[in-house]
Amino acid sequence: MVGYAFMGAAHSQAWRTVNRVYDLPAQVRMALVCGRDTGKVAEAADRLGWEAHTTDWRRLVESDEIDVVDICTPGDSHAEIALAALAAGKHVLCEKPLANTVAEAREMAAAAVAAQTAGVRSMCGFTYRRVPAVTLMRQMVAEGRLGTIRHVRAAYLQDWIVDPQFPLVWRLQKDKAGSGALGDIGAHIIDMTQYVTGQRITGVSAITETFVKQRPLPAEYSGLAAQAAGNGAADGQGPDMGPVTVDDAAVFVARLDDGALATYEASRFATGRKNALRVEINGSLGTLVFDLERLNELEFYDATRPAAEQGFTRILVTEAEHPYMSAWWPPGHIIGYEHSFTHQARDLVEAIATGVDPAPSFVDGLQVQLVLDAVTRSAELGSTWTHVEPALEAVAA
Ligand SMILES: NC(=O)c1ccc[n+]([C@@H]2O[C@H](COP(=O)([O-])OP(=O)(O)OC[C@H]3O[C@@H](n4cnc5c(N)ncnc54)[C@H](O)[C@@H]3O)[C@@H](O)[C@H]2O)c1
Repeated sequence: MVGYAFMGAAHSQAWRTVNRVYDLPAQVRMALVCGRDTGKVAEAADRLGWEAHTTDWRRLVESDEIDVVDICTPGDSHAEIALAALAAGKHVLCEKPLANTVAEAREMAAAAVAAQTAGVRSMCGFTYRRVPAVTLMRQMVAEGRLGTIRHVRAAYLQDWIVDPQFPLVWRLQKDKAGSGALGDIGAHIIDMTQYVTGQRITGVSAITETFVKQRPLPAEYSGLAAQAAGNGAADGQGPDMGPVTVDDAAVFVARLDDGALATYEASRFATGRKNALRVEINGSLGTLVFDLERLNELEFYDATRPAAEQGFTRILVTEAEHPYMSAWWPPGHIIGYEHSFTHQARDLVEAIATGVDPAPSFVDGLQVQLVLDAVTRSAELGSTWTHVEPALEAVAA
């Protein structure tokens, strides 16, 4: 695994747990973790349960002992590590968004497709697909319980940078993160809604905004280092400030390829909203609503019920019949955020051991990247309607 902070901890938890919860055809060994600082990665290896540690990710790719490379770094290193790992015949799990640009994502998807013929598997980490209520939502849509889908309404809202004094971390720098709220959290609702509806976004019209354009540099970049890097006094912004180069919020409308209209909102300025992800799907026969703050539940309105019985039903998604749930606790004993990462690990291990390609694939990751790119271009051109190419055609091109 490369990177050991937020996602590194979540993935480690999953790798530690997966064989204890699910009966799998292969046993996971947490062989080697990589970070940039020797002392910190050594501490992380100990805390998270890895056998060894390194500061050079190439050791993971070159080691004969390693079958799977798990990429939990910011987007600026996804392409380089994933391409090297696939070329070395390693299975790859890569965090979302797949890359920082369409060009990188296209190269990664093409490499992943080529590697499939040699039995090398790859998966992009859109974990919310594996919240049981979201998986159930997809199943119900696929079974036709909503009829024809008319509307998709999606929002992913956070508020951690409302304070203008919050520092300029990597998520606020385009060269590290690719984009801002759009790629970080917008990518999740783009993938989730395409997954749940089975429809692809074909075009968008967008607005984006960067509300706070300069922020204090994080401690390691302030003072002399900041001036040496060209930030600060020279541009008249003071010695310890730097420019925010990504969006703080992105709002867009979209069309899906089977006729649905969709709205998306991704913001880190939604004061009071900590990690509020909500998706509502309206169809000719009913409505489904998922809210991450109530992740064990799904709201269902069944318009085929007699008029006198109609209303929203709260489905508690904890039955053994529900996706992923039979291995956990008795009905009603709820699960949490981290469980979807264990589900992700289960599906990847099973796919590798049984020789099938897991989802979401790198091509699915490219499909999201194409939407992110279209949103950015549309916003730059005054919300011009912008076509989104199908990913498979983009890979072939
Ligand atoms: N699936 C999800 O729900 C979810 C949630 C959060 C983040 N993410 C994604 O996970 C990725 C990582 O995000 P995070 O929140 O864990 O970030 P983070 O800042 O918490 O951790 C990043 C880690 O990468 C390491 N790192 C950075 N550059 C490196 C390099 N060149 N070589 C080796 N290590 C390097 C850092 O030292 C750190 O350990 C991003 O792509 C992000 O979009 C996904």
